[in-house]
Amino acid sequence: MSDFLDLASKRQSCRNFADKPVEHEKLLKCVEAARLTPSACNSQPWSIVVVEKPELAAEVAKSTMHMGINEYIGKARAFFVVVEEYAALMPAIGCMIDNQYFARGDLGAVTYGLTLAAQSEGLGTCIVGMFDRPKLREMLDISKDKSIFLLVAVGYPENAQVRNKARKPLEEIARFL
Ligand SMILES: Cc1cc2nc3c(=O)[nH]c(=O)nc-3n(C[C@H](O)[C@H](O)[C@H](O)COP(=O)(O)O)c2cc1C
Repeated sequence: MSDFLDLASKRQSCRNFADKPVEHEKLLKCVEAARLTPSACNSQPWSIVVVEKPELAAEVAKSTMHMGINEYIGKARAFFVVVEEYAALMPAIGCMIDNQYFARGDLGAVTYGLTLAAQSEGLGTCIVGMFDRPKLREMLDISKDKSIFLLVAVGYPENAQVRNKARKPLEEIARFL
């Protein structure tokens, strides 16, 4: 049985992708795992565009690069584009309790799930929040009524050595009562 803590510890933002293609089957497995993510009222307010064609992946990478930021993404071999599905907003709104808007949390969960699934396949990922949304929308033919939430850059890591994680100490983030 695999140890989840071990998987979570090994997942880290990959900013040194190797020059090695990513198998379609592995990307498919990641999306299949992400499909099982729980969501408020089971509204599943997401869709995932998998960009794996090399020319298109290169264009997606370009949309993330501004003023020297995210240059490393040029070596990513694939992308998961996580889209907020407005079609599913009704159940999400119906599920608003205490003024909590759950859909964004659901989208975060599906995004993290993609990174962990990729990690379990030996792939590296980096979640990318900064990119040219209008350009990407046009490139991937995503309609204007949908919002592009995040990108996940995917590839084999050049160096899979696990870095120390900069995180708040457990005592600061958790209370056991
Ligand atoms: C919503 C979100 C947006 C992010 N955007 C970027 C980004 O645009 N470029 C980047 O290099 N890393 C980005 N990251 C990666 C974070 O910097 C990284 O997850 C954080 O520093 C923790 O490091 P780790 O992933 O290696 O554990 C993003 C992460 C999240 C969750």
